[in-house]
Amino acid sequence: MASRIPVSRLSGSLTSRAPAFRSLSSAFLLPRMYSQATPVPTSTSGKAACENAKREAALPNPDPASDSQSAALVNAYAPFMVATYSRPPPVFVRGEGSYIWDIENRKYLDFTAGIAVNALGHCDPEFSKLVAQQAKTLVHCSNLYYSPWIGALSKLLVEKTLEAGCMHDASSVFVCNSGTEANEAAIKFARKVGKVLDPTREKYEFVSFHGSFHGRTMGSLSATPNPKYQDPFSPMVPGFKYGTYNDIEGIDDLVTEATCGVIIEPIQGEGGVNVASPNFLIALAKRCRQVGAVLIYDEIQCGLSRTGTFWAHGALPAEAHPDILTTAKALANGFPIGATIVNHHVAGKIKVGDHGTTFGGNPLACRLAHYVVSRLAERELQEQVSAKGAAFVRGFRQLQSKYPSLITEVRGRGLLLGLQLTSDPTPIVAAARERGLLIITAGTNTLRFVPSLTISEEEIQEGLHILDEAIEANTL
Ligand SMILES: Cc1ncc(COP(=O)(O)O)c(C=O)c1O
Repeated sequence: MASRIPVSRLSGSLTSRAPAFRSLSSAFLLPRMYSQATPVPTSTSGKAACENAKREAALPNPDPASDSQSAALVNAYAPFMVATYSRPPPVFVRGEGSYIWDIENRKYLDFTAGIAVNALGHCDPEFSKLVAQQAKTLVHCSNLYYSPWIGALSKLLVEKTLEAGCMHDASSVFVCNSGTEANEAAIKFARKVGKVLDPTREKYEFVSFHGSFHGRTMGSLSATPNPKYQDPFSPMVPGFKYGTYNDIEGIDDLVTEATCGVIIEPIQGEGGVNVASPNFLIALAKRCRQVGAVLIYDEIQCGLSRTGTFWAHGALPAEAHPDILTTAKALANGFPIGATIVNHHVAGKIKVGDHGTTFGGNPLACRLAHYVVSRLAERELQEQVSAKGAAFVRGFRQLQSKYPSLITEVRGRGLLLGLQLTSDPTPIVAAARERGLLIITAGTNTLRFVPSLTISEEEIQEGLHILDEAIEANTL
């Protein structure tokens, strides 16, 4: 079990426990300032303070109080940060394996892994060693020149994809810096293929699906039909059409001769952990081949062994494999990188100068991703992911029988799992955090679980136990 020490017992001990933060902590002790972002509350009446003290005493890991180091830091810095996120009060400073610590030394079991990013856990020792080594060797040298690691990573991604029986005609890779950029490249490549196949320039339509999330740059955003993300920035890029996930009957009207590309997540992450049926993906791929549309699998969240196979589409027959596959998130375990893997059909239509990036493929990111991919491609790790996923599901089923009116469905595969609730999960997320467990939400009333792939059975049981307590605290 994690040592979940009440924060009241830690107060005043920050500098002695964490010498590395000593100079930072004095910087945090600044006068409170006006904050643009959701602020940590800064004033409490006597009665409220008393209530708060009682609440804190009852919780193993209560959120930082209004007079904490965390609140001081948040309130000092928030005015300088564009307020694009609403964050809970803890300030995270250190991670190891499946655990993460805040600046006041609270310890949390992390079932989020940076939203499916830290697949090898926080600060994997070999990874950290390579960061230092490569940082002392060569960090950046421009894509105008050759450097070894971008090529080595590209080769490894293609080889491991083929070895795993995925995307049977994978041939080459474009390396960039993030998921949305990987999709942006995929969208541009599909548009280029459309131009080559149909020089009249009529083949430019793009299809994606409701519930999907493909990123926040304008192309990827245009493929993400969620009004919450699109409306503030409309109009979208022209030519995007949206279909219903898993609706086989709708495919023929949706994907036509005018379609240059179709993008789909084999398992939707942000949309609520929705799994595409194999028959739907097979029918979609067949239709793409009929009309000459490029099929893109966005495996940014579900790929890289998260579901127990190297890519989530691993169990599909070859005819349902994509022409393009996009990846990011876990690719360098937290160091920014994305990649767009293409087959010969696509690669042959991309010419020098069609696309580019300043940072994409830099030696540091690629050296790290090379290590991460070689670890994540291990069959043993993938088998363990499936076994750990099964342990989670067993625990979830028990919770479902304990709370049948709250939990209606357990979804997902491997370590990309969702619990469908009948009400807003936000209070459960907060209650779990205050008991030392980080979890996140997705879709509508879905709790999402994307821990590190190296999480242990004991950590899974520990987290399930805390989750049970958090749900119980909200159903009393
Ligand atoms: C499936 C999927 N595609 C694309 C993205 C965008 O990735 P990034 O945030 O790295 O741009 C995400 C991020 O959550 C994602 O889950």
